[in-house]
This record gives sequence, C-alpha cells and structure tokens, in this order.
Amino acid sequence: MSALATKHNAINLSQGFPEFNPPPGLIDKVNESLLGGKNQYSPMAGQMSLREVIAERQNSWGRSFAINPETDITIVPGATAGLFAVFQAFVQRGDEVILFDPSYDSYAPSIVLAGGIPVRIPLNQDFSMPWELLKSSITKRTAMIVVNTPHNPLGLIFSRSDWSMLASLLQNTEILVLSDEVYEHMVFDQKDHVSVLQIPELHNQAIAISSFGKTFHATGWKLGYVTAKAELSAEIRKVYQFLAFAANTPMQFAAAEFLLENPEYETSVSEIMQSKRNFFADGLSQSRFQLLPCEGAYFQIVDYSSISDKRDSDFAEWLTIEHKVAGIPVSAFYQNPNPNQRLLRFCFAKNNDTLQKSLDVLCRL
Ligand SMILES: Cc1ncc(COP(=O)(O)O)c(C=O)c1O
Repeated sequence: MSALATKHNAINLSQGFPEFNPPPGLIDKVNESLLGGKNQYSPMAGQMSLREVIAERQNSWGRSFAINPETDITIVPGATAGLFAVFQAFVQRGDEVILFDPSYDSYAPSIVLAGGIPVRIPLNQDFSMPWELLKSSITKRTAMIVVNTPHNPLGLIFSRSDWSMLASLLQNTEILVLSDEVYEHMVFDQKDHVSVLQIPELHNQAIAISSFGKTFHATGWKLGYVTAKAELSAEIRKVYQFLAFAANTPMQFAAAEFLLENPEYETSVSEIMQSKRNFFADGLSQSRFQLLPCEGAYFQIVDYSSISDKRDSDFAEWLTIEHKVAGIPVSAFYQNPNPNQRLLRFCFAKNNDTLQKSLDVLCRL
C-alpha cells in the first residue's frame, strides 16, 4: 500500500511508522556517540549500560521475577530480528505455534522458516479471545502461543483477565508464551499495558519483545530487545549470535544515556499518541466511517460498510487511487479472511496537518 500511495501521490496512512522525528535530545546523544568513537561492535547481548537502564525500568514497572540485565535481556536489531531468533530457538520441525488472526505479518513466515506449523485461529467476531477454540487447538505438538499487546492491526490490549485465563489454560504445560509488546508505551485512557513478564504463573514460559523503533518514533533505527528468564535467553542468544551477532553500537549508547536522563520519557509517548488518536477520531466522527475501539498502538480500525460494499483490498485501492488516502485492508492480516468484513486500518502517527488533510477527504466520502 505504501508503494501504491507513493505512485498515486496519496496521503500514506497505511504502513505503521511515525511522520515525526525522535526527540531532539536523543538525536543529540546519537551524534555524540558517533563523534565520540562509539562505532565498533557491541557485546553480543548488547551494551551493558542499555541493558541496565532497561532492567531498572522493567523492575520498577513490576515484573514477576527480578530482571537481571546480565542474563535476561538481549538487545537486537529490531523486534523482527528478535521474533525470528525466538522462533528459531524454540520451534523444532513439526512443532505447532498458535497465532490469533488478525496477526502481524512476520510471525507465520518466521515460524515456517524454523520448520514449524503456524496454527492461525481467528479472534471472535468482536475481536475478543476465542477461548474455547484455543483450548481445542492446543495439542501435544504446541510449542508456543503468540500474543500481541497492544495489538497491530486492532489497537486493542490483552487485559489482566485475558492473561489470567491464558495462564490457567497453560498450567502444567511447557508451552512458551511469546508476547510481542512493541507498542507497550502507547496505551490510552488510563488503561494499563500488562506485560507477559507481570504474570507470575507464566514466569518460566514468558518471552517479551520490545522495540525502540516504536518507543522512540525511529522505526528506521531497527533497535529492540528480548526479555526472558536466563534459561530461555541463553537459547535465544545461541541463535542470535549467528543471526546478527550484535545490534548497532552508537544507538545503544545514545538510548541508554537518553533514558537515564529522561525517566518519564515513556509516559510522554502514550500522551502524544492519545492526542493523535483523539484528533483523528474526532475528525472521523463527522464521516460515514464507523470507528472501532482503539485502546493502544497507533492504529485506528474503521468500518466502511455504510460507504461501500467493495471488498477491503478493492476499497483500499480505490481510496488510494481515486481519493489519495491510503490505508491497509484488514484482510491482509488473516490466513482465511472473512469476505464480508469491511475494515481498514489507518495509522494516525502522523503530523496533525497530514491527518487533517486526510480527514478533509474521508469526511466527504
Ligand atoms: C506488532 C509488531 N511487531 C513487530 C514489529 C517490528 O518491529 P521492528 O521495526 O522493531 O522490527 C512491528 C512493526 O510494525 C509490529 O507492528
């Protein structure tokens, strides 16, 4: 959709990346790192100064075990690489990995490349968890379940009661829970992000993925980290050593120093994104689109059924080519999309004048 948006000179609300820059103080730190000679390989698991500041924050947010920066955190070149290393480390040939559709597009191919079988089960029609279906989908070959909170594309969060339910289902099993939490610092309306690392019953099975690309509005920097107990992290590192070996050094020093000097930074990310969500949603309330709830991340799902009966991929193309606004058809996140679903995902991490220009178009439809 981004390529189509460029070709037709459309406003691009499709791919998930911010239109604005990382905080200037962080860019200064990167410049200082580059000029200060921080330009060679980092240790495999990442710069200790960064792992320490991450561990300190995670422990202050409440975790079910004390995060040890030495053994439990591995810095990686972006969440995608972290996900890939985790699947390679724990999925053996023929193992099943349960995903909930709609699901982020890198999971299934990475599982297949590890020799595993993605078992993609759809969320309920109202996007709540399909607990009965999950129960019946767990087999002796289930190695892992993937959760994504806050969710791409839905913008929904996995609640404490969802976690309790999952933990009780996985009691007395060794099934791992991989929780993709790249939007952990974009949660709205005083709701809480609940990490898999906060669930005591899952502490031996939990792996969390984070992305500085998202948290710093710097998706092009490709920097993230994987957190899990030492025994699990050791296995992940065995793969990671030969996948990338290390993430880029100047960004790691810069991130560590910036976070140390800005203890409240993450809170500001939710505030920025919530004001964008509100701006976009208020504008769309004047349109014929129906808005689905958005609790986190930077995506607004809209139902366009009162505007058109086209399938979502056709509608997305038509909107891009004819009206110069690009979104993503939600069917792209399914193995078996429902042909009657009329949903589009818009990314609202854009400057307000861009959002306003898109609203001017969307409200005329
Ligand atoms: C749910 C989810 N996981 C992972 C990623 C990839 O993150 P990174 O850019 O750090 O590899 C994205 C990026 O859009 C995402 O939306």
